[in-house]
Amino acid sequence: MKGIVLAGGAGSRLYPLTQVASKQLQPVYDKPMVYYPLTVLIAAGISQICLISTPNDLPRFQQLLGDGSQWGISIEYREQARPEGIAQAFLIAESFIGNDSVALILGDNIFLGGDAFPRAIADFSGGASIFAYHVNDPQRYGVVEFDAQGQAVSLEEKPVQPRSNFAVPGVYLYDHQVVEIARKLKPSARGELEITDINKDYLHRGKLRVNRMSRGSVWLDSGTSSSLHDASSYVQTIEKRQGVKLGCPEEAALHRGFISQTDFEKLVEGLPECEYRDYLSSVATGVGRVGFISA
Ligand code: G1P
Repeated sequence: MKGIVLAGGAGSRLYPLTQVASKQLQPVYDKPMVYYPLTVLIAAGISQICLISTPNDLPRFQQLLGDGSQWGISIEYREQARPEGIAQAFLIAESFIGNDSVALILGDNIFLGGDAFPRAIADFSGGASIFAYHVNDPQRYGVVEFDAQGQAVSLEEKPVQPRSNFAVPGVYLYDHQVVEIARKLKPSARGELEITDINKDYLHRGKLRVNRMSRGSVWLDSGTSSSLHDASSYVQTIEKRQGVKLGCPEEAALHRGFISQTDFEKLVEGLPECEYRDYLSSVATGVGRVGFISA
């Protein structure tokens, strides 16, 4: 399975922070936001990744992440010229996807801990597989409704009167048919190709699996100043308590065997003196590697 990180958008809700650096490059505690979704993909064993961003921001992502070879993965870059919807990612990345299945993750969605995502990948056998997460404010998201047997029966994008409290987080698994489905979509009232319309297509054909994320599992949104601060505080609290880092692509790549121990040590040697390097050094020597937590 291949992976797409969608890191587009104007980030206008974070103005003036986003005047000179895109939303997904803002810090979530001690590392850039995009590290977290990237780590989710790597930790799940995905090593071929395509990052999509605006023409303006793309060079900075390239500067930050390079071609991925330092982590034993490959990262390709594609432009989304205008913010015309999440589903447009499949048209932009068509040649990257080819005949493979694909995981799409939004660059501002923070998932921490839990194994819902790697499990869904392991169980994936075609169609689409998405997630449902109980939230307080479902009207801000795609919302999924379940029947008494726990089967998904409807999906709505930002409903004024949500039929449930289950929001659909920004991580989705699809077979390669997603490209054809995206091609047939019409823009919504907000002028976007909606990911919810893709999911509805799979739902109506009986090909949609919805994985409910358990109580206490963590999905944070970081698109407003307040939610960005909450995400940073959460990461700080857990890192301080556990003495491990979250959203650390180097560690996930080592754990997955994408990078050898020797190359990992070389990589760490090349980093400037800082807390991040100290942490990776402790990972290299084995202290702190006990019980790698997925993200
Ligand atoms: C988008 C999707 C929505 C999903 C959300 C997750 O919302 O349209 O279905 O629940 O991402 O973050 P948007 O970022 O466009 O508000």
